[in-house]
Amino acid sequence: MAKIKVLFVCLGNICRSPLAEAIFKHKVKERGLEHQIEADSCGTSNYHIGDNPDPRTIANAKKNGVSINHCGRQLSVEDIESFDYILAMDSSNFSNIHRLLKDEKHKPKIQMMRDYDPQGKGDVPDPYYGGEKGFQEVFDILDRTMDRFLDKLAEGL
Ligand code: 4NP
Repeated sequence: MAKIKVLFVCLGNICRSPLAEAIFKHKVKERGLEHQIEADSCGTSNYHIGDNPDPRTIANAKKNGVSINHCGRQLSVEDIESFDYILAMDSSNFSNIHRLLKDEKHKPKIQMMRDYDPQGKGDVPDPYYGGEKGFQEVFDILDRTMDRFLDKLAEGL
């Protein structure tokens, strides 16, 4: 059976979406689902193509026991065709993803990450211009949201 392909999307692809990818992969591995599910991340902008995740994201992930390894890249039209789930970190990312939508049949794939947050919908806040507290807040949101999203994926396996 083909693997389920999940793409996490933010603006720069150095803070939120690479962390989402890392937390998700960590949980996929814990559940022994790595042969059934794969993941990647990207940004809607071209600001950080080829860059490592932000050092503050790397430090925060490490503090929380998650290793992170990603090279920044920009979202493409092909991504929208080839991934099964395209999860936007915030509403601005969500509308930018739709600009690359060429075929309406792919529209249901594009969702807000926090539609899966058991504590309520909304944006994953951009931590780029803030301090460590913001990075931990992003980690906590993604950690609980990913459990629920994975529960949903696992139901269909
Ligand atoms: P991200 O955060 O979208 O979570 O990766 C940002 C990273 C970089 C910038 C903005 C947000 N920037 O303006 O360079």
